[in-house]
Amino acid sequence: MILVSGNLFLLNTDHTSYAFCVRDNRLLEHLYYGASVPEPREADAFVRSLSHKVSHSKGTTINYRKDSPLTLEDLPTEYASVGKGDFREPAALLVFADGSRSADFVYESYEIPDEIAELEGMPSALAADDEGVSRLIVRLRENQKGVRLDLIYTVFPASDVITRRAVLYNDTEEELQILRLMSTQLDLRSETYKMLTFGGNWGREMERHETVLTHGLHVNHTRTGISSNRNNPFVMIAEQDAGERAGSCFGLNLVYSGNHYEACEVDSFGGLRFVSGIDPEGFCWKLNKGDAFATPEAVMTYSDSGFSGISANMHAFVRRHIIRGPFRDRPRPVLLNSWEASYFHISEFKLLQLAKKAAQAGMELLVMDDGWFKGRNSDNAALGDWVADEKKLPGGIRRLSQKVHGLGLQFGIWVEPEMISEDSDLYRKHPEYAMQIPGREQSLGRNQMILDLTNPAVRKTVIASMRAVFKDNGIDYVKWDMNRLFSDVYSSVLDKERQGECAHRWMLGLYEILDTLMKEFPDILFEGCASGGNRFDLGMLCYFPQIWGSDDTDAIMRTKIQSGYSYGYPLSCVSAHVSDCPNHQTLRTTPLYTRYNVAAFGVLGYEINLCDLRKEELQEIALQVEMYKKWRDVFFAGDFYRVTDKEWMVVSKDKRRAVAMIWNELNVPNDGALMLQCRGLDDEKTYHVCNVPIAHDLKEFGNLVNMVLPVHVRQNSLLHNAIAKFKHMDGETEDYILSGAFLNRAGIELAQSFGGTGYEGQTRLFQDFASRMYYFEETGGHASL
Ligand code: DGJ
Repeated sequence: MILVSGNLFLLNTDHTSYAFCVRDNRLLEHLYYGASVPEPREADAFVRSLSHKVSHSKGTTINYRKDSPLTLEDLPTEYASVGKGDFREPAALLVFADGSRSADFVYESYEIPDEIAELEGMPSALAADDEGVSRLIVRLRENQKGVRLDLIYTVFPASDVITRRAVLYNDTEEELQILRLMSTQLDLRSETYKMLTFGGNWGREMERHETVLTHGLHVNHTRTGISSNRNNPFVMIAEQDAGERAGSCFGLNLVYSGNHYEACEVDSFGGLRFVSGIDPEGFCWKLNKGDAFATPEAVMTYSDSGFSGISANMHAFVRRHIIRGPFRDRPRPVLLNSWEASYFHISEFKLLQLAKKAAQAGMELLVMDDGWFKGRNSDNAALGDWVADEKKLPGGIRRLSQKVHGLGLQFGIWVEPEMISEDSDLYRKHPEYAMQIPGREQSLGRNQMILDLTNPAVRKTVIASMRAVFKDNGIDYVKWDMNRLFSDVYSSVLDKERQGECAHRWMLGLYEILDTLMKEFPDILFEGCASGGNRFDLGMLCYFPQIWGSDDTDAIMRTKIQSGYSYGYPLSCVSAHVSDCPNHQTLRTTPLYTRYNVAAFGVLGYEINLCDLRKEELQEIALQVEMYKKWRDVFFAGDFYRVTDKEWMVVSKDKRRAVAMIWNELNVPNDGALMLQCRGLDDEKTYHVCNVPIAHDLKEFGNLVNMVLPVHVRQNSLLHNAIAKFKHMDGETEDYILSGAFLNRAGIELAQSFGGTGYEGQTRLFQDFASRMYYFEETGGHASL
């Protein structure tokens, strides 16, 4: 809800309030962002109590106007520029035709439009009409030059999110240059904050980092050209003592996939300014008279329930307002991907062998990954030539997809449309399509170059080549990959004074391509990918309902990576696969059930050579898929909780069903009791809680079998193998009927863990990398507690 009263603007979501006012001098002053405040009876009293009090000039500050002691240096504002005494991080930095940079944007008017239009040319959050989404546009004008600036606030009440963006209109007679134009600015009064950022690298995306915000500038950004795995654009600012379940926190993100910038500056008066938007480094935009420049949309949420409150808000927002199209609420198919099964060595024969096994295991989609097109036998060649390799696929894509459909599976394909290989027909014909600086050797990444998507001819070619692949070939799913960062950024179709626009124009070019193809192929499920999570952001999620979280399929690494994503993104958009062991990235061996348990807390898939597996493994996988299908709606749409650093839980929206998972890293003998803690259950409901006992292989006990056997058995001998084949040890059973109130508060002490002193059926074998899944179902039965 948006309230405008006198000079006060108050934006309310269900549990938060955001307020600013217009001061006497027509400056926008930020007043408040936090938990909901009561609607003011008198706007004036509200403004008077929160607005900055000034009676004398301060120290060596600059007076904003000759006739007033007010300085901008410690005034919380809505959108700061430079040159008038505010020395903190600016939101706007412009160079006018005369070379001057001072800018002074003051209030002119506001508008609350009836229609909430989408941003043109860039992805933005969708207003779902049943949720009371509303928009405020505040119009500012530069005092002397006359340039106009719109600040656009959109309020999403149910998810407690407010989005912001800015549009600069050059309605003057002269051109100007934009050196930075941030999407949002947030001025907070306290200095006792920390900033949480999520970054890493290939194979270890989304590590959580905490920085105590002391005096000075703290920046999370990327200059890689894409949002990148180095520093994800999602950040949190939290009070220093805030934690998972309590404390004041802000969650901030950008609906953008290019170079981004999130900066916190603690100033010398103890205030904290946050700005975020397109990374100003390397950015420069010439704005001709009559032109406008729109920033990407920034997303902000507040919660006083710690990180979990931010995650809940962000999950609701992403699910409802970012993900769109027919797949938004549709649980996703369980897939088998060919990459780790065969890498580039694929053929119709091999893929059909895999597909048969996948169908037998109950899977629903076969994905043909990289290697299917002409000349693509390694990552050295062929990107750009999107025609099937006749040797590998003699009847083309269509014949393969028909055969896969005939097995009762959907068919998916891998593409990397934004790239070009030097060794490709496309490059031989159109070397100018590659992004490179004339006369300078282009640095390569994964042996490939980036197509210059600022060039309309290149965009046309990409759209046409993808159309040819997607159309009439029986494609149900596309994995859209992107495997290198930017270097030698340059566009041969831009003038030299516009090269600073190249990276952003490239991203706008990509959005245009995606927009065209998504509209043309609404029934294809698209999955984003960039060497795993190198471009995992809200911009991409507007086109791709799911993104491949990481090339690292090791279950233990995935617990960390998926936990990292879960702070800002619902796990229903992070795809996760069960792969082979030793794992291809870590060479670690983890139990098959742990690999499944971790991947099920994402969009489940398999990326493993089913043809090479033992019969027992295939049976186990078939049971996993069967179980997943029964619980898929809970994993997909439920509320997710990071219960501890080794326990996740997901609870269905109606709170009738839930699943929890605990896992172990390195086993410790003689350890303390392990509690199953619960979150999010309905206090009033009664739940049946149980596990599916694991049948342990005798060989897990190694030599210890000799403690119970009448004859001596040498480890790994024929006899040992034979006994192990027929004799399994039943794992522990957990079975309780308990109330939600009891579970939410007290939990369950789980069976004793094996500690080197004996084993019987109720002992929990919790070796390195073991895990357990617990299922909760509402029961009509009576809870004893
Ligand atoms: C990188 C992706 O992340 C992998 O899953 C796989 O698709 C390869 N590219 C194929 O080249």
